[in-house]
Amino acid sequence: MIDSHAHLDDEAFDEDRDEVINGLYENGIDFIVNIGCDLKSSEKCFELSEIYENIYATVGVHPHDAKTYDDDLEKRLIELAGGKKIVAIGEIGLDYFYDNSPRNVQKEIFKRQLALAGKLKKNVVIHSREASQDTFDILKDAHEKYDFTAVIHCYSQSVEMLKEYLKMGDYISLGGAVTFKNSKNPKEVAKVVPLERLLLETDCPYMTPVPFRGKRNEPKYVNLVAEYIAKLRDMTKEDLVKITDSNTKRFYNIS
Ligand code: NI
Repeated sequence: MIDSHAHLDDEAFDEDRDEVINGLYENGIDFIVNIGCDLKSSEKCFELSEIYENIYATVGVHPHDAKTYDDDLEKRLIELAGGKKIVAIGEIGLDYFYDNSPRNVQKEIFKRQLALAGKLKKNVVIHSREASQDTFDILKDAHEKYDFTAVIHCYSQSVEMLKEYLKMGDYISLGGAVTFKNSKNPKEVAKVVPLERLLLETDCPYMTPVPFRGKRNEPKYVNLVAEYIAKLRDMTKEDLVKITDSNTKRFYNIS
């Protein structure tokens, strides 16, 4: 199966990155999409996608690092986005939980990267935390201006909000949080989201699903996310994964 959102460039994999990547297939993972967060990780994403057959990647600047975004950085992103296995712009968005960049800067850079995605004809990967309404408003406005589809990764917003995203043609992605005892929204959402709009992810090394919570997350654990959601929906894991894998390929335009 596919892990649609991983961060194997993260320093948590510095000791054994090669081993983890080369072991993907025997752990049941056909390929992963490695997601960029800042310029350095976008460079690394590009590099990994060039070296390894089973890695596709995205480039973009996370809201945490919005304050680092300038014209030179954008120029470099455009170059990287030209890579033949760079399949989207992301992760971009808003994070009002950490507020690592001022909110007005986060909003400005989010809009700017949506415009960039429109120009480059790429889909976008969205990070949104404690910023539900602003994320939605900015995305809605961008949908009116540019032609793209978004995936709201690690979706933790309400079912009501989900309906609004679905109306705009967007996707959501669920990961380890769905297995956490105290996570209400992801479980509710997992039960009702139309299957053709759902992607599965790990967000590794973060968000490790139960029963490995607290340990380093890895792409192979996307299997546990699939198992959990399949049970919630009263279907087999195989049937679920068949649909979500084909969604991932469609969303990222991977054949
Ligand atoms: Ni992520």
